Amino acid sequence: MTVYLNGQFLPIEEAKISPLDRGFLFGDGAYEVIPVYSRRPFRIDEHLRRLQTTLDGIRLSNPHGLAEWRALVERIVAGAEFADQSVYIQVTRGADVKRDHPFPQGVAPTVFIYTAPLVTPPAAVREAGVAAVSALDNRWLRCDLKTVSLLANVLLRQQAVDAGCAETVMLREGYLTEGAASNVFVVKDGVLLAPPKDHRVLPGVTYDIVLELAARHGMPFAVREIPEAELRAADELWMTSSTKEVLPITVLDGKPVGRGAAAGKPGPAAQRMYAWYCAFRDEVMRKADA
Ligand code: PDD
Repeated sequence: MTVYLNGQFLPIEEAKISPLDRGFLFGDGAYEVIPVYSRRPFRIDEHLRRLQTTLDGIRLSNPHGLAEWRALVERIVAGAEFADQSVYIQVTRGADVKRDHPFPQGVAPTVFIYTAPLVTPPAAVREAGVAAVSALDNRWLRCDLKTVSLLANVLLRQQAVDAGCAETVMLREGYLTEGAASNVFVVKDGVLLAPPKDHRVLPGVTYDIVLELAARHGMPFAVREIPEAELRAADELWMTSSTKEVLPITVLDGKPVGRGAAAGKPGPAAQRMYAWYCAFRDEVMRKADA
């Protein structure tokens, strides 16, 4: 597999970074994950804009302009054996000659791009929905930045895996924030609810698409704080991300989500949103080809 590292396209086995790289020592870097369908990156400009926001937030100057990034990603995508991909971009503050917390002077950032097959939830999983656990959101207060310092997310996500679940839904001071690697939406009485995009959550590219599609198709929605009680009384819960797309959570902490006969099953709003999402994605791809 060909990857990009610091100006070179080379086999992954030959891609080497210094053990003094600040990404390794401090988790001092930014990343993005861009879904690619039939070799066409989906919403790449939005991902590159968020990369810029993260780099600005961690005071690391962007080593590439938009056109350069697009060209680099295009070349990685073209070189892969598979058509549906998940492109990973990472930029760290580079490798100094010693380990020292403050920013090094005159050190070039490390830029790494690689691609893997895009693994979206299989139809059977989508039709059954997935189980999640809840946990206290113990991350820092800049969750709006997509940094590679993901230890808290890793530990939180592992709690889900240990419980045989797909995701950990987090609460901070009694309010829903997001999943360990996804945004979380609630549906209650026909209204789609989303936590505000502030420092407590990652501004998901998929989150934005979901709200755009709700507006376009007339699904009532509100962006506001979601107290724990509302999370637990939800008719539907969804997780969204570039790789999970829109995926219903049908069990939370061992209890079925929803009421009556609909409890524990993906709800109608999720099914509608997923269909809109697929149609929108296909429309964007057709336009990209035109
Ligand atoms: N994660 N919130 C968190 C904490 C995330 O890590 C992600 C994505 C999202 C959804 O963002 P988007 O819709 O832009 O993918 C929300 C990626 C996929 C990852 O870390 O692998």
